Amino acid sequence: MNLALVEKRLATRYVGRNLLYLTQAASTQNVARAEAERDSPEGTAVLAEEQTGGRGRLGRLWISPAGKNLYLTLIMRPPATNLRALSIVAPLAVAEALEAATGLTCRVKWPNDVLVGGRKIAGMLIETDLVGEGVKYALVGMGVNVNFDVEAAPEIANIATSVRRELGRDGSREEVLAALLNAFEARYTDAQEGDAAFRAWRSRLDTLGRRVRATMGERVEEGVAEDVDAQGSLLIRRDDGSLVTVEAGDVTLRA
Ligand code: BTN
Repeated sequence: MNLALVEKRLATRYVGRNLLYLTQAASTQNVARAEAERDSPEGTAVLAEEQTGGRGRLGRLWISPAGKNLYLTLIMRPPATNLRALSIVAPLAVAEALEAATGLTCRVKWPNDVLVGGRKIAGMLIETDLVGEGVKYALVGMGVNVNFDVEAAPEIANIATSVRRELGRDGSREEVLAALLNAFEARYTDAQEGDAAFRAWRSRLDTLGRRVRATMGERVEEGVAEDVDAQGSLLIRRDDGSLVTVEAGDVTLRA
């Protein structure tokens, strides 16, 4: 990774200005947690070339081969009222960055998977540490498949993609990373000031109008994904006509 190139393109005030670059980490989330506990500034980015224990949502693993993709965690310190905005800002920033750096059209699968052509190109893992009513820190982990040879990972080849797979050639990790940090700061600012980030995220959702099954631990809800509310929760219209609000969960599209 050519960090000088990233720095040259970086237009942020604080996001990514303090950047910790590692050739290998078990998970950038763990390194970022230790950094956050040491009071590192908001916007600190932890970036690894490779993860040996990359983590996905719901206890899944995140395949993290060396030198191919982006594995990063941002340390944020939002007021409690802005915590949920992070799961809107992160996928939006990744989608906008990929579009700007590669020209690919990106959609979002609620709440925060980034899709190209219906396949997942990036995922987010947001972990928070709370004290009382307040947020001590939030760790915004983002994995973006840039030059990943997805076909070499048969277990995800049908559901995942990468810039390389979509373009038929390698993409620039530096360009995607700089664009991502820039978009993240801009959209996080937007989210604090009004509803522009929310509207941009909503208009990218692939899920709305589709029949879905949402799984929240043991609970399962099925119906038509009608809309999202201002907090980003998914509103599902059940077959009996009632409306249910899903704050967090895993959604699969039904036929
Ligand atoms: C998902 O879609 O399940 C979330 C994937 C999140 C992966 C990123 S890569 C950087 C950070 N470190 C991790 O161990 N996970 C996140």
